[in-house]
Amino acid sequence: MPEPVLSARGLTKAFASPAGPLAVLQGVSLAVLPGESVSIRGSSGSGKTTLLQILGGLDLPDSGEVTVLAPGLGAVRPRAALGRGVGFVFQNYQLMPELTALENVALAARIAGVSVAEAQARAHELLGQVGLAARTDHLPAKLSGGECQRVALARALVNRPPVLLADEPTGNLDERTAEEVMALMLGVVGSLGTALVLVTHSREFAERASRRFVLSGGVLSPA
Ligand SMILES: Nc1ncnc2c1ncn2[C@@H]1O[C@H](COP(=O)(O)OP(=O)(O)OP(=O)(O)O)[C@@H](O)[C@H]1O
Ligand SMILES: [Mg+2]
Repeated sequence: MPEPVLSARGLTKAFASPAGPLAVLQGVSLAVLPGESVSIRGSSGSGKTTLLQILGGLDLPDSGEVTVLAPGLGAVRPRAALGRGVGFVFQNYQLMPELTALENVALAARIAGVSVAEAQARAHELLGQVGLAARTDHLPAKLSGGECQRVALARALVNRPPVLLADEPTGNLDERTAEEVMALMLGVVGSLGTALVLVTHSREFAERASRRFVLSGGVLSPA
């Protein structure tokens, strides 16, 4: 059995609310194996974004622990992986508006310590893989929603993370564009051997993952 690229054990998380602590995660464990795809569905407010942020090290759990297998670093906390352990794709793209598509992608590599020349080469290659070779010098405002999400996908993969976390990546897109972006994402992670954790409201997209879960009552259960 291969070592998981992402492993979470016993995660709990509560937020303060006027009515007292809101227990969002109540003991979530998950192990993601190299190259596999996992989907997570759940009603609005069930804690999907909270879970993904903790898995990626953007937030910390109250208890429990997460490890990622980062290239060259071994199994570490997500925050120690400097963008190399997980890639993130968000519903609203989160591109830097004043940077071109190429610069958005290359910046993520620069932050991880890659040289300028190598960062640009990787950005060109990945933008080609997501079908945007002709749009590298466009600012996000001059790109469609689907194109912005493809740039975000290239950015998420530029440091070759072993796992991609995608939080409703097609939530802002029309049906046809959503299908195109989802097919592209599954194709690219498949060709790179990247594992995928996909949060989606779409039953159809969720079913394309090799393992499916539902988050409800703070607990993750097989769908
Ligand atoms: N920083 C925070 N402070 C207080 N409460 C929060 C915070 N972040 C999230 N919550 C609450 O935690 C719960 C889970 O939020 P979360 O965003 O994880 O849900 P979600 O499953 O991603 O929902 P959606 O499908 O609408 O995106 C919600 O009730 C939300 O209001
Ligand atoms: Mg959410």
